Amino acid sequence: MPDEPVPPPRRTAVLISGRGTNLESLLNEKRAGKLPATEFILVLSNNPGAKGLDIAREHGVPAIAIDHRGFRKDREGHERAILSVLQDHDVEFVVLAGYMRVLTPVLVGAYEGRMLNIHPSLLPAFPGVRGQEQAWEYGVRVSGCTVHFVTEEMDGGPVIVQRTVPVLAGDDPDRLAARILREEHKALPLALDLLTRGRLRIRGRHVEILRGNSSYPLLERELPVSLPLLIATGNAHKAEEIGAMLAGLPLSIYTTEQIDTPGPGEVREDAPDYEGNARLKAIAWQEATGKWTLADDSGLEVDALDGRPGVQSSRYAATTEERNRKLLGELRDVPEEKRTARFVCSVVLRGPRGEEHTARGVLEGRIAFEPSGDGGFGYDPVFLPDGYGGESLASLGPEIKNRISHRARAIEATRPALERISAW
Ligand code: GRF
Repeated sequence: MPDEPVPPPRRTAVLISGRGTNLESLLNEKRAGKLPATEFILVLSNNPGAKGLDIAREHGVPAIAIDHRGFRKDREGHERAILSVLQDHDVEFVVLAGYMRVLTPVLVGAYEGRMLNIHPSLLPAFPGVRGQEQAWEYGVRVSGCTVHFVTEEMDGGPVIVQRTVPVLAGDDPDRLAARILREEHKALPLALDLLTRGRLRIRGRHVEILRGNSSYPLLERELPVSLPLLIATGNAHKAEEIGAMLAGLPLSIYTTEQIDTPGPGEVREDAPDYEGNARLKAIAWQEATGKWTLADDSGLEVDALDGRPGVQSSRYAATTEERNRKLLGELRDVPEEKRTARFVCSVVLRGPRGEEHTARGVLEGRIAFEPSGDGGFGYDPVFLPDGYGGESLASLGPEIKNRISHRARAIEATRPALERISAW
């Protein structure tokens, strides 16, 4: 996607302890124009004799040593000294590239989600020191390296990139370590490029890699990449339902509550039909966020009420309970065979270049005489879908509902478009 803008370079510091070959590979990549969203502000070492300090200076990057031995067993004091230098330089991201100190919450807490570490094994195997040697001694057939976010657990944070290396006949720990190091020099620039371009999203232990510009398209082919998709709703139930319906697609799903860009403000839903309302929401949120956006609008059409509440379903009364009570009241004297109704849903998917896909789903049924079931939401407790033995949509459970509902059918019809869009 060559026409996406590159974000302004992010102020990054590298922490080292020794020879600094990983640092050197980062600085070489920067020199070659490969890390356009990263600016190396500073290199820090706990060891004043670290060769990496000279490498930094040769590349014109300020290099500072803060010797831990001056802090006599006060790890936190040492980290506070480092932190104050980082903060004085407005450092946004930190890379641990062979920084051989166990971190305390002082640094980890200050750079949560913004600090990377490179480790010379396939974590969680062989954490701690001499990962390469541990792997060789254990006798594994495959080892490699891992770049991960730093958390309080040593070498235990969410994994960003791993690269594998075979163990060969005749290897010894040094030969294996050298082969791993060559992969480290690819993995670390790749992970940092993803981080500083804003392409990583941490979801528990999982790191989603969002689609976007890359300096390393070939290396990225080996990684799972997702398309960010905004569901234009603040209704967490609805977003969860849609997420479940789209399981298996390479998507990173956001609700309007989960994005950090400001939204469009109040969106008027005054179109004459569901599709029009879904389109108003999709366009407003797509334009405000720049993301692919999926919006829906749905309603309940009751034949005995000439199709009401229809497009007014969510405005028929103030709360869900009042809406259901009002509906049952209006239908009090209507016999069972005349209580036919349908749920209708329109979905509009909008892309950043005005691409649009629309789909519609319908679920036929009847209106009950009283509410039942405690699943679902909205009118689900008073709607009895055809063919389910008089059970309400709220009693059927999410598995059935997410297969047969009007929304499920509309989303299912959108799936081929999403499959195409999210494929590389
Ligand atoms: C690398 O093997 C790295 O994975 C580990 O420490 C070593 C640092 O090497 N954390 P260098 O200083 O980058 O050459």
